[in-house]
Amino acid sequence: MSVTSTLPGGTWTLGDRTVTRFGYGAMQLSGPGVMGPPADHDGALAVLKEVFSLGITHIDTADAYGPHITNELIHEALHPYSESLLIATKVGASRDKRGGWPPARTPDDLRRQIDANLEKLGSPVLDLVNLRLGDSSGPVEEPISEAFSTLLELKDQGIIRHLGVSNATSAQVQQAQTLGPIVGVQNMYNLAHRQDDDLIDRLAEEGIAYVPFFPLGGFTPLQSDRLAAVATRLGASPMGIALAWLLRRSPNILLIPGTSSVEHLRENIVGASIELWNGDVAELDSIGG
Ligand SMILES: NC(=O)c1ccc[n+]([C@@H]2O[C@H](COP(=O)([O-])OP(=O)(O)OC[C@H]3O[C@@H](n4cnc5c(N)ncnc54)[C@H](OP(=O)(O)O)[C@@H]3O)[C@@H](O)[C@H]2O)c1
Repeated sequence: MSVTSTLPGGTWTLGDRTVTRFGYGAMQLSGPGVMGPPADHDGALAVLKEVFSLGITHIDTADAYGPHITNELIHEALHPYSESLLIATKVGASRDKRGGWPPARTPDDLRRQIDANLEKLGSPVLDLVNLRLGDSSGPVEEPISEAFSTLLELKDQGIIRHLGVSNATSAQVQQAQTLGPIVGVQNMYNLAHRQDDDLIDRLAEEGIAYVPFFPLGGFTPLQSDRLAAVATRLGASPMGIALAWLLRRSPNILLIPGTSSVEHLRENIVGASIELWNGDVAELDSIGG
């Protein structure tokens, strides 16, 4: 399968950086349940190297992945980093022995997680840090000012270049914006889960990126007869069409699909490049309706 030299969706300006709208989510490079090392260490490095050689300039990670493992893999595969590459990370959750994601958002927790990201990525500065809110069941309406202000202080010190929020309610996004500038929001969103439609449109008007996590359904990949039918008609994979729909949904949507397979990475780029016609979009829209 050949990959087009230009990635689908073009580019987006994230703060002072231009990134490809087709990015890469590195979470699932760690072991099962995002704990421990991958079964195929060299295979994980090969995916990261392919990401970079295909021209993708936005990689999403977190020190909680593994923990530490995903950042160590990124460092091993890609350090020293190209100036064109933006690595986005997140803080606000830690890991327990059973693989859970307990919130960790006191100022000390956050500073520890920032230090861990700097160390494992081997960077003096973090390009983009998302404050991950809520818990593993989803966003939770709760105050964010102490945590977000801690990250603003680190930004003022020059350790963080840009900030965003993740797993956030619309009210929390607004709260963050009253405290300081954000360049992006990273929330769960895909063809079948469209709770953030209004938020996406508001952020688009403000020039702020919306980065859907679980764009392919995450641990339970998207399954839909309508998606399969559109994909068959267009001669592409369902996952690729799900990504093409996201790119078409709004210009501020940046993709970070995850995969541990070079083949899937290439297939997703080809699929996301497919032009959807209005009839296709209407059919795909009806999945989340
Ligand atoms: N902010 C947050 O709270 C949060 C939460 C979750 C995730 N994230 C971020 O979002 C990124 C994306 O989420 P995700 O990786 O969990 O889920 P995802 O992108 O929705 O889906 C990844 C899954 O889809 C499979 N897949 C990918 N391409 C495929 C293809 N062409 N055919 C068949 N299966 C395919 C992958 O399996 P293979 O490995 O076999 O390809 C993997 O199991 C993560 O990497 C992470 O950076 C953020």
